[in-house]
Amino acid sequence: MNDPTSTPTSQTPLLEASAISKRFAGLRAVGGEDGLSFVVNRGSFVGLIGPNGAGKSTTFNLISGVLASDSGAVRFDGHDITTATSDVIAEHGIGRTFQTPRAFESLSVLDNVVAGATSPGESLRAAFGRAWREHESATVDAATETLERVGLAGRADDLVTDLSGGELRMLEVARQLVRNPVMLLLDEPTAGVNPVLQQRLATLLEELHSEGMTLVVVEHNLHFLLALAEQVLVLTHGELLTEGPPADIRTDAAVISAYLGDDHAA
Ligand SMILES: Nc1ncnc2c1ncn2[C@@H]1O[C@H](COP(=O)(O)OP(=O)(O)OP(=O)(O)O)[C@@H](O)[C@H]1O
Ligand SMILES: [Mg+2]
Repeated sequence: MNDPTSTPTSQTPLLEASAISKRFAGLRAVGGEDGLSFVVNRGSFVGLIGPNGAGKSTTFNLISGVLASDSGAVRFDGHDITTATSDVIAEHGIGRTFQTPRAFESLSVLDNVVAGATSPGESLRAAFGRAWREHESATVDAATETLERVGLAGRADDLVTDLSGGELRMLEVARQLVRNPVMLLLDEPTAGVNPVLQQRLATLLEELHSEGMTLVVVEHNLHFLLALAEQVLVLTHGELLTEGPPADIRTDAAVISAYLGDDHAA
């Protein structure tokens, strides 16, 4: 059945970060002496973990163009995106959520997803300048379908200010998902999310993974993440401590000491 001449999709690099680094006021947030280097293979489900302040969110910011790297290079899907703006990077197919969810508070839940479909950025004018012109039913249909996938169909007409923190987080996932990204970066998607929505999120991520989407998920909820991810990158002090499959990470003495040890401290 297997074609021995074909390269497994999970072994083809999609994202390559080479010696990237970021300092804030002289203090190193990402990258040690040689910078931070890692690869995310196409179609893979990668967990990015590490203690508070390890540099996980900053790494997402460097990849998605929210921050410029001080050094190194980032390649994605054949493009050098090292100095690209966040809008261009989104156009290349990288979607990302933020640790603190963002939404257009004056709009309904559905219109927030419609805005996400037309513009990944934060500018309401940019989003709706296009959205109202091209307010095609296809966009609304896609937004409605995406709300169903994240479990928010019943809240479509509500204002986002009526959503719980967890629902707001799911809305942010929907705003990215509606663009059908090649790679989705999620920053702590379960934080504040109730167990029912967490289960829906887990199912959704499994579905997206099986559909071929590349996923990179930052999580402090290791019970959630290690059950889903195929490969785990462990960051400490902006550097890659180790990487491997979840089973190895769970039992890695250095990880337990640097991260799980803190987590399970009495
Ligand atoms: N905009 C900023 N200005 C100054 N320092 C920052 C900024 N963003 C992050 N830092 C610092 O960089 C380091 C890495 O932060 P980062 O938010 O990337 O960590 P993290 O791994 O996402 O942590 P957490 O698990 O708490 O979300 C921390 O020391 C943090 O205080
Ligand atoms: Mg963070």
